[in-house]
Amino acid sequence: MTRKVAFVSGAGEGIGAAVARRFARDGIAVAVNDVDPAKARQLVDEIAASGGEAAAAPGDIADVAAVRGMIAGAVSAFGRLDIAVANAGITSWGDFFDYSPDTFDRVMGVNMRGTFFTAQAAARQMRDQGDGGRIVLTSSVAGIQAIRYLSAYSMTKAGIEMLAKNLVVELSPYGITINAIAPGATLTPRNFADDPKYDDHWNQVVPIGVMLSEDIAGAVSFLCSEDARKITGQMLVIDGGWTAISPTPDLDFVERKGE
Ligand SMILES: NC(=O)c1ccc[n+]([C@@H]2O[C@H](COP(=O)([O-])OP(=O)(O)OC[C@H]3O[C@@H](n4cnc5c(N)ncnc54)[C@H](O)[C@@H]3O)[C@@H](O)[C@H]2O)c1
Repeated sequence: MTRKVAFVSGAGEGIGAAVARRFARDGIAVAVNDVDPAKARQLVDEIAASGGEAAAAPGDIADVAAVRGMIAGAVSAFGRLDIAVANAGITSWGDFFDYSPDTFDRVMGVNMRGTFFTAQAAARQMRDQGDGGRIVLTSSVAGIQAIRYLSAYSMTKAGIEMLAKNLVVELSPYGITINAIAPGATLTPRNFADDPKYDDHWNQVVPIGVMLSEDIAGAVSFLCSEDARKITGQMLVIDGGWTAISPTPDLDFVERKGE
């Protein structure tokens, strides 16, 4: 059997890096994208040192020409493309009343344009190969539930869920599955940079505790596995139960009823 080849965007650290490491461990060759070339190369070296196959694909995922070049580069490095994980995304917190057009455009550019054209470039390659493929997009629990200061980010993540659903129509004839994942609070370097007490704060509201990047990588690995070959157009939420909880008013009338 030929070994599979994956492209993972934003894989220099955090969730994308965990996905790339997981693929490499599973015998999949990985093209590691990051806007920071040093981070991409570092992960490639780490994967190579542990016996895996990887190549750096540095570049800004919001740049469509760069995305097309990176997919072409992955194909020339490894001969084909079977899996694409559009993981790169930026979280720019900000009050709705003060949110600037520049920040808005950057969030849309990376999260929406980046995701859309990564999926397009990967799907074109898979269509031309003629034997199917797997695409996983990265939404968020913020695309399902409102979170203060994340209005622009939430829009992009809700849009990404719809993109996964919509592309079933166009990709199914080619045997390409398209799904989204929605991670909840995950322990990544960026979250700790934003809030050094990130784990304490989020563990208070996540029923079975915050996620590690490896928990998200496991879900991505499943969606790209043979077991998931009939799953398409879905969003898999990996959030430790957080979205099952909604704030309620005081419900003590329920207890009083039996008195
Ligand atoms: N961490 C969480 O709690 C969480 C929760 C829900 C959803 N997500 C989503 O998961 C994905 C990964 O999250 P993370 O926290 O691991 O990310 P992160 O912020 O740690 O970034 C991961 C990597 O992406 C790279 N990157 C940033 N902009 C890029 C661009 N334009 N092109 C290419 N690479 C770029 C960064 O350099 C970094 O190395 C994102 O789409 C994010 O929105 C994360």
